[in-house]
Formats: sequence, structure tokens, C-alpha cells
Amino acid sequence: MTQKIMDKRHNTIVNEIVDSIRQVIIRNKVTNTELWLAIDFLNETGRSEHEMALLLQAFFESTTCVARNNESRGSAVAIEGPYFLEGAPEIAHGGEIKTLAEEDGEPIIIRGKVTDVDGKPIENVTLDVWHSTPVGTYSGVMPGIPEDHYRGKLTTDADGLYEVRTTKPVPYQIPHDGNTGKILEGLGRHAWRPAHIHFKARGEGLLEHITQVYFEGEEYVDSDCCTGVCDELVLGFTNENGVKVITKNFVLDAAA
Ligand SMILES: [Fe+2]
Repeated sequence: MTQKIMDKRHNTIVNEIVDSIRQVIIRNKVTNTELWLAIDFLNETGRSEHEMALLLQAFFESTTCVARNNESRGSAVAIEGPYFLEGAPEIAHGGEIKTLAEEDGEPIIIRGKVTDVDGKPIENVTLDVWHSTPVGTYSGVMPGIPEDHYRGKLTTDADGLYEVRTTKPVPYQIPHDGNTGKILEGLGRHAWRPAHIHFKARGEGLLEHITQVYFEGEEYVDSDCCTGVCDELVLGFTNENGVKVITKNFVLDAAA
């Protein structure tokens, strides 16, 4: 029975993809020669390790978030990207994410409240936080940065609150020396993502919630190469004793 439902959904999606591409071909009078150029391009993309995943993530991961946000009563989700790692170090309320002293990042505080869709605080939500170094790289993925840096696992308290100290991330470019970069360049677009902090919230009876926050007025917020920014996720800093504070609250949907 489950297989039949899956087959039905699979068939609906595949048929709609095929139909959409056929309509594009008809509307734009795409020639057989142009079709073969596309086939060669996709074959070449598939031969390059990670390039197909990069291409599809860059262009479509944010669309899966739009689909979910359209149906959700919770706060907005955003793309996960490729740099999440399980096993980040646990950090107590108000504690500090490990950062490299020699990279001299700007200190920031991240805090907020986690509630359900009725506004009730949720205790014991596990909140993974990860972000770039002050030079736009990721620990554990790129060489030279210990895996337990620039990542932390927090737990909400009885009031649904969390707080952590870290350093401010910066914009970075996605890999753009392959076919994904060629397409972006052809479209007149760049390969930069605005500075952002990643979050993944998980808890008993809750729908997993993956999102990001971006910083008001900063570079590339209006032109993210992965089109992952939505207004709700662009937040301004406040100032507390000379330290920038970002307040990110979460409203989490119950698991279906
Ligand atoms: Fe990122």
C-alpha cells in the first residue's frame, strides 16, 4: 500500500517535470541542437564529483523550503546546505562556541525562545548552531579547522530559552569553478551567500526545523546565489555592553 502511494506521488512529480520541460521547449522553440547542448552539459556535470548535487542544491533546495513554509504554522525554514555535521559539542546556556583565537572574529551573542504554534515554550529542544569562520570557511569540512569549532549543540531551558556566544560569520562563495558557476555567470549572477547562521532544531514530537538567519543591511542579503533568504529570516543586531546580539525565536510545528 505504502509503495503504491509512493509510486503515485513519484509518477505525479515526474510527469509534471516532464510536462514543464516540454512546455519550455515549445514556448522557446528549443531546437534539437540546443537540446543536445543541454544533454552534453548535464553529462559533463554528472561526471564531475559533487557538481550535480551542487547545481541542484543551489537552484532548488530553497524551493523545497518555500513549499514547506507555504503549509507551515511555524517560523520559516531555510536551506541546510552541505556543511552540517552530527556530533557538535554540547554547550551550556550562555556558553561559548569554540572559535580560533588567531582568526579574530567579532564576538556576538545569539539568543531566543522556542515555542510551539500556540506560543507555549518548549523545553529540551536540541538546537544545533553552525556557521562560517571569520574568513568564510567551515570547520570539519575544510582543512585546518578542528571539527568541534564554529559548531555547538544547545538545549532549551524550561522557558524555551537558549543563548550562546560565538563570532560573527561572514559571506562566502559556493564552489563556482564548475558548471554551477558557469550557469550563474551566464545568468549574470554571482556565487556569494550573505553571512548567515545555520540552525537545526529537533525535539520529541516536533517536526525537524532547519533554518538560517541573515543580517539586516549586509552584503548579498538581496542577491543570495542560493535564493535562500526570506524577509522573516533577516534580523537586525541589538547592542549589549558593546557586543552585538541577534535574537532568533523559533515557532516549531508538531510532527505529523
Ligand atoms: Fe552556510
